[in-house]
Amino acid sequence: MTGLLASPDGWPRVLLGRAEAKDPTDLDAAVRAGAFAGLKRAVHDLGPEALIREIAASGLRGRGGAGFPTGEKWRVCAAAEAADGRRFVVANGYGADPAVSTDRVLLERDPYVVVEGLAIAAFAVGATEAIVAVRADQPDVIRRLETAIASAEEAGYLGPDMLDTGLDLSVTVRPVQGAYMLGEETVLLKALEGRRGQPEQRPPHPAERGLFGSPTVVQNVQTLASVPWIVANGAAAFAKIGSKASPGTILVQIRGAATDGVAEVPLGTPLREIVALAGELAPGRTLKAVLVGGPSGGILPADLIDTPYEFDALRAAGAHLGSGSVVIVDDRACVVDLGRLLTRFCADEACGKTIPCRIGTRRLSEIADRVTSGRPRPTDVQLLGDLASDIVDSGLCDHERLATLPLMSGMRYFRAELDEHILHSSCPAGVCRPIAIAAGALAAGAAQ
Ligand SMILES: Cc1cc2nc3c(=O)[nH]c(=O)nc-3n(C[C@H](O)[C@H](O)[C@H](O)COP(=O)(O)O)c2cc1C
Ligand code: SF4
Repeated sequence: MTGLLASPDGWPRVLLGRAEAKDPTDLDAAVRAGAFAGLKRAVHDLGPEALIREIAASGLRGRGGAGFPTGEKWRVCAAAEAADGRRFVVANGYGADPAVSTDRVLLERDPYVVVEGLAIAAFAVGATEAIVAVRADQPDVIRRLETAIASAEEAGYLGPDMLDTGLDLSVTVRPVQGAYMLGEETVLLKALEGRRGQPEQRPPHPAERGLFGSPTVVQNVQTLASVPWIVANGAAAFAKIGSKASPGTILVQIRGAATDGVAEVPLGTPLREIVALAGELAPGRTLKAVLVGGPSGGILPADLIDTPYEFDALRAAGAHLGSGSVVIVDDRACVVDLGRLLTRFCADEACGKTIPCRIGTRRLSEIADRVTSGRPRPTDVQLLGDLASDIVDSGLCDHERLATLPLMSGMRYFRAELDEHILHSSCPAGVCRPIAIAAGALAAGAAQ
């Protein structure tokens, strides 16, 4: 199983409370440790409307990146007209960032917490069909989920007449495989329909018109896994964890010099404390930056290390929660080169449906290429900024905006390093080798 990092005593465990179970698919052990208490309260004590109010009052926001309020999504879905009477709930366990295994850790270590959250969401919005979408290349996850779902059905928590309510709930696991964009909700829904996926214009949002045209709640697996705790312990208790605007906890993939693992952290924790979980920097190195949010993340300088790790503060700083990745960058790295690599990834993964994203991210990537390879133009800083602001808000799925973050945060916080590349064809970190070669060749030429 994928590794967990030890977190400090006293940090709450909403998601991974049962993560140390010997056999995560053992239903009796999970129930003894609290599994399905939330579902029972939801169906026997609350009912759909009070349940949606409880989730809204908890302040739970989607863990898939955007931080949309979960209670509001459920309210819209429950109120939407279902032409053929069908409604769906889809757990997004795709985990698009290839370097992040947070969702996988959760599904491997506690499939029941996701399944229970899915069942509660389905009950809230009146869905009779629920799907867990997972990566086809994670057979362990698939096997555990299938075992957990079969056991929960046999015990009457799911399936026909779940918990003696007269309601039916079918839960299925759907392995999917594709590229980065498959994590985006409208692409995922198309894949589940067996169609080629590109993002769709919204509105209508999937909560109103989603899978096969029916109202569909799409929710990241961590969002769903937060739900049983909220229902079992109450919205007020949940709202006290984390920060006021972003309550609860989240899983973070933390990568440092010697460490790469997953930790559950309360939202609002200063980046400094998250970085500390990765242990010491390599001997003799100093912290230069922290890359927050994955391939389309923001590169934040060491002096922003006290930024709270939560949706709004990170966005204001020019980063985002994104895939839940925090990468520690020491003084050996060149931020311009890092921005170049990330922008290239984002350009390669853009699906191409909207032209400013398709061409704009590619142009950003090309400019970054020439800046790091000794062929900069004096106007490149201006061009990067103008191009990025033209791209933002022109796409269908937000990828176009997110794809500008690595270079824009690099420009904002590491301008002197960028200027060195552009004005003097020099890489202060000595990473952009072609620049050194180009500069060396020029110097040699001048000496002749
Ligand atoms: C390019 C792109 C990739 C995404 N990848 C994922 C992903 O891997 N997993 C995920 O849960 N959400 C991903 N999202 C967000 C989903 O579109 C959607 O907002 C989310 O699944 C909704 O669940 P939540 O409200 O619980 O966050 C991605 C969005 C974009 C634009
Ligand atoms: S913004 Fe980019 S990734 Fe999103 S639909 Fe448009 S081209 Fe595709």
